[in-house]
Amino acid sequence: MAGSVSRRDFTRLFALGGSAALFADPAWARAQQAAGPAPAVGGTGEAFWQSVRGQFVMPPDLGVLNAANLCPASRPVLEALKRESDSVDKDPSAQNRARLTGEKEALRKTLASFLRVTPEEIVITRNTSEANNLVSSGLDLKSGDEVIVFQDNHPSNLNAWTEKAKRYGYTVVTIPQQNPHPGMAYYLDAYAKAITPRTKLLSFTHLSASVGDLFPAKELCALARLRGVLSLVDGAQSFGLLDVDLADMSPDFYTGSAHKWPCGARECGVLYINSRAHTRIWPSIYSAYPGAVGISRTFEGFGQRDEATMIAFRTALEFQTQVGRDKIEQRSRALAQQLIAGLSTLPDVKVWTSPNPALNAAVVSFQPGSLNAQKLGAALYQNDKIGTAGRGAGDRGGLRASPHFYNTPQEIDRLVAAVGRYLKTGV
Ligand SMILES: Cc1ncc(COP(=O)(O)O)c(C=O)c1O
Repeated sequence: MAGSVSRRDFTRLFALGGSAALFADPAWARAQQAAGPAPAVGGTGEAFWQSVRGQFVMPPDLGVLNAANLCPASRPVLEALKRESDSVDKDPSAQNRARLTGEKEALRKTLASFLRVTPEEIVITRNTSEANNLVSSGLDLKSGDEVIVFQDNHPSNLNAWTEKAKRYGYTVVTIPQQNPHPGMAYYLDAYAKAITPRTKLLSFTHLSASVGDLFPAKELCALARLRGVLSLVDGAQSFGLLDVDLADMSPDFYTGSAHKWPCGARECGVLYINSRAHTRIWPSIYSAYPGAVGISRTFEGFGQRDEATMIAFRTALEFQTQVGRDKIEQRSRALAQQLIAGLSTLPDVKVWTSPNPALNAAVVSFQPGSLNAQKLGAALYQNDKIGTAGRGAGDRGGLRASPHFYNTPQEIDRLVAAVGRYLKTGV
């Protein structure tokens, strides 16, 4: 799945965009061949990663470390999106659009292969929020039932449950987040203790968006199965970052968005529904144009969709597969470790993210001493061309930086140096 890129594959991928000459950077392919196994940060593979970066349209001097929020699409993805959108707008006839009929199923196949499951288990959604809500709206839950959620879940997997509980009468049990990350065993134990005979589902975030806490996804899903409980894994922060294998993790439901770590087009996402859970969930939307296989035949009648976005999403998944999914994970994690190490040398900086690479992945949050985080974020962007995300003061406040495979070690150094400077000068 995450094999290396042959010159032929590379050319084929970029030819998909109809612009091989424009995008096929021979240096990229050459560097890949020369680089061999996963390049280390600062090691011999930097030429390879530089050429990967060259496949993104961000200016070379702009370092946006905000993958947990929104990732840029690569050139082949942008090319596909533009080409297919233009085609429909130039000729919206049913005859011209007929050639797009198979694209939804093509994306479904690619998603299934990317997540290592079957197309029959894939629903193509608008994003993670919609996918999470299709689960909370689709289960038969009633008074007396319990659902266990992690306190640090996104609203689409937290408020969605508590709001719907008001209508359906079930109870929501919350597992508090701990800082620093207390270890995988802690959360496994917390969930195991919270399960009662009334529990119907447990839910958690694979990688938290707040401080990048990694959860023991496979073990929690196994616990749920053992106790006869459904499992929902919010993969918004792991899909396209970690080399996720859902066959191995075996959740009942897993959700993700194209516009985050997969670097796909905006407004497309995925809901995986394990075949063993197909009879446990109801569709929430009934309309025309459902999918062609498995659960999508009943679950995905979402009306008119945008095939251009789906083609772009498929191109993004192919792009990542070509680069190497294991390499992408290693690269993003290495950049995060570099950042944690750098920030840890600065006096007064409190890093909220666990320094243990077994407990974090590519999302790093920190409190920059007594500096106003909002002002610091603005100064970093304006003066240092570094994009970060602000975190509210209420819960582990400060700034969040989430590097991905298009970022560079130099951008990390620039961020650390700038924070160190502002700590001395103020903002
Ligand atoms: C953990 C988590 N779940 C769900 C979402 C929602 O994603 P989207 O806005 O793509 O629906 C986010 C967004 O940041 C997230 O971090």
